[in-house]
Amino acid sequence: MQKKIFITGGAGFIGSHVVRQFVNKYPDYQIINIDKLTYAGNLENLKDIENKKNYLFERADIVDEKVIIGLFEKHTPDAVIHLAAESHVDRSISNPTDFIFTNIVGTLNLLNAFRKICSDKYENKLFYHVSTDEVYGSLGDTGYFIETTPYDPKSPYSASKASSDHLIRAYNHTFGVPVIISNCSNNYGPNQFPEKLIPLAINNIKNMKPIPIYGKGDNVRDWLYVVDHAVAIDTVFHKGKIGETYNIGGNNEWSNLDLIKKLCEVMDKLLNRTPGTSASLITFVKDRAGHDFRYAIDCSKLTKELGWKPSLQFEKGIEITAKWYLNNQKWMENIVSGDYQKYYENQYVNR
Ligand code: NAD
Ligand code: TYD
Repeated sequence: MQKKIFITGGAGFIGSHVVRQFVNKYPDYQIINIDKLTYAGNLENLKDIENKKNYLFERADIVDEKVIIGLFEKHTPDAVIHLAAESHVDRSISNPTDFIFTNIVGTLNLLNAFRKICSDKYENKLFYHVSTDEVYGSLGDTGYFIETTPYDPKSPYSASKASSDHLIRAYNHTFGVPVIISNCSNNYGPNQFPEKLIPLAINNIKNMKPIPIYGKGDNVRDWLYVVDHAVAIDTVFHKGKIGETYNIGGNNEWSNLDLIKKLCEVMDKLLNRTPGTSASLITFVKDRAGHDFRYAIDCSKLTKELGWKPSLQFEKGIEITAKWYLNNQKWMENIVSGDYQKYYENQYVNR
């Protein structure tokens, strides 16, 4: 079956893995990557597939309603997999406005364009929103987020993603737009922008710079390897039921401090350092404002109903990830310059 699919945010971390998964696995599909190329978007992430016949890149800002309608008119897609977003919690604390425009208004524009162009025949069409477990808020020491956990977002980032999820469901309920949402836990792996904990720590360890840990490092996250997330998105896209929500997670909880200690062991081994060298860089810094304590996903609905489960064990995944960053230093160097340098100084040096 031939399908034309818009993937938004395809030049970002998760989006690039989703684009690769679809372009390589489904040669009959036409994949159109729609991305503004913000600081987080990087076409280098897609070098290996950029010349494939079933791949096309369109640079566009989803906040620009006219441009988005134009793209829908030009390509008349059968489906949208929507990942484009401002995605970093710390940036949402220092500058929430971009999050409201991209994550809320951008999602609204895509929904409106989808309705305008596709509503004559919704059969076999799909608007799939890739969301986060952060919409559910923060857990204490026990319990898990399930699909019916009430929304309780606590950061400007999670509030903007919660808002976009609400719009998606409202368009399904009110206008019959065929939608699916998945809410995933923290991802790690190759191509993640080094403002996020794991690539930031890898880069600092490599350069013998302090590894900043917020507060006491006891906050807990459930980590999933990014390719496992891309496979989950493929599964939900093809087998998910319209109107449903699926939680995606790694069954893999770590406190930030334990995670960084594990990473330090891996880095000492890969860099032939005396054990303990990298861990000596751990530095406790001022906590993030409103820092969510714990996220943990129960993904049994997705496992039972659609047969997906995480495949890569964390110890293996973190080693693959560390090796990737060490073997792709040019990728890192291209990012860790200019604007990012300024962000880093504001976030960690001048506070
Ligand atoms: P990212 O920041 O690495 O990439 C975001 C991409 O969106 C970039 O390529 C950027 O250029 C693009 N973009 C941003 N604003 C845009 C705009 N106005 N118009 C068009 N493109 C724009 O993010 P990521 O970590 O890959 O996350 C992708 C999606 O997955 C997001 O929706 C995020 O909320 C969700 N998510 C992320 C995680 C995680 O751990 N990273 C976990 C669960 C869900
Ligand atoms: P992050 O990768 O920003 O993802 P999220 O905030 O979406 O979970 O952060 C993961 C955890 O690591 C989070 O609890 C905040 C913490 N953290 C640090 O301790 N130091 C850092 O420098 C960063 C970026 C994050």
